[in-house]
Amino acid sequence: MIRLVVFDAYGTLFDVYSISAMAETLFPGQGNALSVLWRDKQIEYSRLVSLSDPLNPLGSRHYQSFWDLTRLGLQYACQKLSLELTPAKQKQLMDQYAQLSPFEENWDVLQHLKAIGMRCAILSNGSPDMLAKAVSSAGMTGLIDKVLSVDEVRQFKTSPQSYGLVTHHYPIDVREVLFVSSNSWDALGATWFGFKSFWVNRQGLPFETLGPRPTYSGNTLKDILPLL
Ligand code: LAC
Repeated sequence: MIRLVVFDAYGTLFDVYSISAMAETLFPGQGNALSVLWRDKQIEYSRLVSLSDPLNPLGSRHYQSFWDLTRLGLQYACQKLSLELTPAKQKQLMDQYAQLSPFEENWDVLQHLKAIGMRCAILSNGSPDMLAKAVSSAGMTGLIDKVLSVDEVRQFKTSPQSYGLVTHHYPIDVREVLFVSSNSWDALGATWFGFKSFWVNRQGLPFETLGPRPTYSGNTLKDILPLL
């Protein structure tokens, strides 16, 4: 029995690669490479700081907000690709990141869940202010019950403290949560934590060779509807 659906944000509700069109305008021929490397570095930095911090979040020394790590990831990606990131270009790309396009089907799915009375939340690495902007610019305010940011525990996914925010805010059993992510590593982390997991495999990728398979998977967010 599923009583709560929790969505990952970046990559699942918001298309992190939609930024490649602007990147292509600013750096012709490099838009795709830049958006992929930028995303990889952003995630790598989030893991790096979490792994290097002691488990007690109050003692975290390396934690920086996801917004800052996103900017640092962009700077690294441009250096690696030998692209000149002027302050104006950085601002344009970061402004665009603050209002990424949502995937087409999301709004209908969220509307449907609201109509059947299913509670929906977001659990994301994103910092609270960037999530608030993304949710409102995608017209999803009112469809999401709570937007949970790992900033509260200063540990990024896939640390158990990050997933634990869900059961901290909603006193229900982990098995009553359906955690939905298009990031296979995030679906894996959620499965390890004990949630029922749904992997949205929009790109037809293989799942990780590590760990158990997600409880469910599909090609679009719509595929969660028959489960609820
Ligand atoms: C998030 C990252 C994983 O939204 O994209 O948490």
